[in-house]
Amino acid sequence: MSHILLIEASARKNRSLSRELAQRFVSAWNSQAPGDPIVRRDVGSTSPPAIDENWISAAFKPAEARSAAENQALELSDELIAEVLQADILVVATPMYNYGMPAALKAWFDQVIRVNKTFTFDLARGDEPIEPVQSGKTLVMLTTAGEGGLLGSYAAHKNHLHPHIIEASRLLGVDRHETIHIEYQEFGDQRFADSQAKAIAAIAPLVDHLLETSSCPNA
Ligand SMILES: Cc1cc2nc3c(=O)[nH]c(=O)nc-3n(C[C@H](O)[C@H](O)[C@H](O)COP(=O)(O)O)c2cc1C
Repeated sequence: MSHILLIEASARKNRSLSRELAQRFVSAWNSQAPGDPIVRRDVGSTSPPAIDENWISAAFKPAEARSAAENQALELSDELIAEVLQADILVVATPMYNYGMPAALKAWFDQVIRVNKTFTFDLARGDEPIEPVQSGKTLVMLTTAGEGGLLGSYAAHKNHLHPHIIEASRLLGVDRHETIHIEYQEFGDQRFADSQAKAIAAIAPLVDHLLETSSCPNA
């Protein structure tokens, strides 16, 4: 059994391509592995708050030294982190906004990447003091963009979406990733239609592949 955490980040509830990919992924998973728990966190509809000074001072304090107000400042973070720690597979369904991730998704990462909860920091490790607490998780990115050529092609230098999600997810224990991407949405031309068809067709084989190779590290 795999535990899946689905993060949806589009600000659109209607006509969202990334939400459509997510829905297709969930349907394919449910039909191949009915009963696997899928937790859905819709940050596009309800953005986690940006972290603030209270959050930071509470997070960097030992738990036993925190005041009631500081514990409260971390309440949502605790809840979101519990969802991450449970998950074997993180599915991030998101658009590209302004060449990177939507602010709501960044706010989610800021809430869940937390010292002594999802990563540890030790200067004794030299130039790489940060280590994730968990390992073995898989990241699935279901992404959409208005422009084309962002994945390893002529506009790859503008793509700050995928590299950022991949790097941030490492701190959550992700060590492999898969991507399904729709491009050229803003052009609405044949390239868009082809890209959408290809992305939809890639979902069932990806689910099969994940089910074959999933090791359930956090079961
Ligand atoms: C605020 C905003 C910013 C966007 N910025 C970019 C961008 O920088 N590059 C790009 O290729 N597409 C950009 N797009 C297009 C979206 O990535 C595209 O419409 C995508 O399909 C939206 O995802 P959704 O269909 O799941 O809502 C932007 C769209 C919006 C609404």
